[in-house]
Amino acid sequence: MEIGRGAEAILILNNNLLIKNRVEKCYRLKEIDEKLRKERTKKEAKLLSDAKRAGVKTPTVFNTTKTSIEMEFVEGKLLRDHINKARNWEMICKKIGENIAKLHENNIIHGDLTTSNMILKNEDVYFIDFGLGYESKRIEDKAIDLRVLEKTLKAKHCKRSDEFFKKIIKSYTTYEKSNEVINRLEKIQVRGRYL
Ligand SMILES: Nc1ncnc2c1ncn2[C@@H]1O[C@H](COP(=O)(O)OP(=O)(O)O)[C@@H](O)[C@H]1O
Ligand SMILES: [Mg+2]
Repeated sequence: MEIGRGAEAILILNNNLLIKNRVEKCYRLKEIDEKLRKERTKKEAKLLSDAKRAGVKTPTVFNTTKTSIEMEFVEGKLLRDHINKARNWEMICKKIGENIAKLHENNIIHGDLTTSNMILKNEDVYFIDFGLGYESKRIEDKAIDLRVLEKTLKAKHCKRSDEFFKKIIKSYTTYEKSNEVINRLEKIQVRGRYL
């Protein structure tokens, strides 16, 4: 059963197995398209496992082919649709912040931190969709990771976004270099105002 079609991939659910298949993009040159799909698939599978090892809840990867990943289907609530009405939003934001702290502690940049890439299952927040992720030690890259989240919170959850983001940042401070990242984020915010 097809459950979704994202910007890049088709998602097929088969029992408890989810297959994320990166499909051909006709507007890209064929060779470049194939290379890109293979690279992103490989990278995403690796980062899903790296993140899990770092203590972040991510779907278990069972198998990969050149352009598809077979992974655990996380049966829960997509935060995009849920967080605005969630009574336990503080707990959810705390988990989000702690997850990002663990990623950055391990030099994993998610690359697309949005509430469409987070699923609440019981009391856990799962991170998915590492297709734009990469490894980096740079403070700037970590600050941009947070900036992407801040901006998408504003766009999708505008009335509550400040509350949400403050709580997320508060629990992000479990990362030992969080001060440096937050200082950099503030500079990016100022820069953004004048762009
Ligand atoms: N492992 C998973 N378990 C449950 N739902 C998932 C899983 N992976 C993806 N989804 C659902 O499919 C949507 C698109 O998947 P995603 O990996 O974010 O692809 P895209 O790169 O197209 O954004 C997600 O927003 C989520 O609703
Ligand atoms: Mg996504």
